[in-house]
Amino acid sequence: MKPGKVLPAAITIFGAKGDLTRRKLIPALYNLYTADHLPAQFIIYCVDYLAVDESEFKKELLEGIDEFSRNGKADRNKWEVFAAHISYIQGDFVKAETYVSLKNKIKNFEGIVQIRGVRMFYFAVAPRFIEVIADALYVRKLCNRDTLDRIVVEKPFGSDLDSAKKLNRYLNKRFKEKQIYHIDHYLGKEMVQNIMAFRFANYVFEPLWNKKYIDHIQISVAEEVSVGKRGGYYDSSGALRDMIQNHLFQLLCIIAMDCPREYEAEAIRDAKVKVLKNVRPFTNQSVFKDVVRGQYTAGVINGKPQVGYKEEGQVAKDSVTETFVAAKLSIDSERWKGVPFFLRTGKSMPRQSSVIMIQFKDSPHKIFKDDIMPNQLIISIQPELEIGLMFEAKEPGLHMKLLPVEMDFMYKEEYKQSLPEAYEALLLDVLEGDATQFMRDDQIEAAWKVVMPILDAWKKSPKRQLIPYEAGSWGPKASDTLLKPYAKEWFRLPVRLADDQAANSNLAAHAPQEG
Ligand code: BG6
Repeated sequence: MKPGKVLPAAITIFGAKGDLTRRKLIPALYNLYTADHLPAQFIIYCVDYLAVDESEFKKELLEGIDEFSRNGKADRNKWEVFAAHISYIQGDFVKAETYVSLKNKIKNFEGIVQIRGVRMFYFAVAPRFIEVIADALYVRKLCNRDTLDRIVVEKPFGSDLDSAKKLNRYLNKRFKEKQIYHIDHYLGKEMVQNIMAFRFANYVFEPLWNKKYIDHIQISVAEEVSVGKRGGYYDSSGALRDMIQNHLFQLLCIIAMDCPREYEAEAIRDAKVKVLKNVRPFTNQSVFKDVVRGQYTAGVINGKPQVGYKEEGQVAKDSVTETFVAAKLSIDSERWKGVPFFLRTGKSMPRQSSVIMIQFKDSPHKIFKDDIMPNQLIISIQPELEIGLMFEAKEPGLHMKLLPVEMDFMYKEEYKQSLPEAYEALLLDVLEGDATQFMRDDQIEAAWKVVMPILDAWKKSPKRQLIPYEAGSWGPKASDTLLKPYAKEWFRLPVRLADDQAANSNLAAHAPQEG
């Protein structure tokens, strides 16, 4: 993007004292600013109810950048100039005067720059404030130009299908669809965005991307982190709502969608919704057969002791909230009929690893004596960014002996620069009015529709098959059993760090033996 493409912008962050602002939003805006992606004229209004000294507040933001920005510590001179664009507004989200004061300030800014530019309102707030803030913005005509004014809403979008529908109706009554940006930061991740390029700009894979050649697909987002200080929120959410209904379903959609008719927001979102609508509905019986849930108990992660989930702060001592989910999904479309999609996510696992593994079918040619490992296409989203293709090759030597080898594209070898954070990409999209990487309300509702039978079945039988797993393990054994007969266990990236204890069972099993 060329600097200057974005109109002057008044950016408002509601929930300015929260973690998201300090860890993600301000570092992202600062990096956009230092890379000349923000317009020359911009202002950031940070709204929260606490009375704070503005210079103290800015100091906290600076510390946030120093700690969390991908570029490390902020350049003090650049920070000073950037910080002059930030203004703290103390205000209760439920009181009218907050919005009166905000409106005056925005008008004042627009008067100075002499352009009615973009207004972006970021809701970094607890769900209970979304409606009240949205209503105030509407009533006070703060967000009333559909070509210029946008709201950005963080997940969770409701806690079930009904509440999501209600929230969507509420927002749609006040704003045009194109003004509402439902953010899912997974869509801003570099590798996630690359999947579409990989699939649709390289004709070599597209003809193979279907039930004829693909055996099964695994989408796994393992997290090393525990719920930590977020017990209060997490205990009423759980892994299904926190990760599967949004982030993993985004990955599912990008992997399973048909090629959209063009690279354009509506076309892409239509293709994604179609995937979710074709997911075979779970029944009460299939939930307990095809979905595994777990909860971590005390253990050791990376040499450090980790308390069990029920011992975490703000978590009920008898909690039945799942911190791990693995599920087998079927997509009843022409392309995918009969190909299972396995999704898995969990907290307190041995290490962070988000990987999509596409396993192709066995070769029909049985001319070699060796066991042949089916081809696997591996897309690693984080922490490594990598696309690899496992294929069989002849082992060098005098006889025809086969071994699997990997053809690899690794970002860290190909590109030396540090990659933009998801929030940088997404915030810039909002400022430019590009909704391609944001969810439409029908996609959110379709996603809730898929998980509702699971939530209902678990609600009816809260303890049934809630399996404990030790922190620092890869989750309940039953999640491996779920893969049968397609695989013995979940795919894991090769261990690259010598001190990493995690076993690389899949590849190790096929690796050349020494001696
Ligand atoms: C958030 C969830 O949306 O995503 C967290 O609420 C989770 O529980 C996080 O840890 C994972 O994001 P990332 O980018 O670290 O994979």
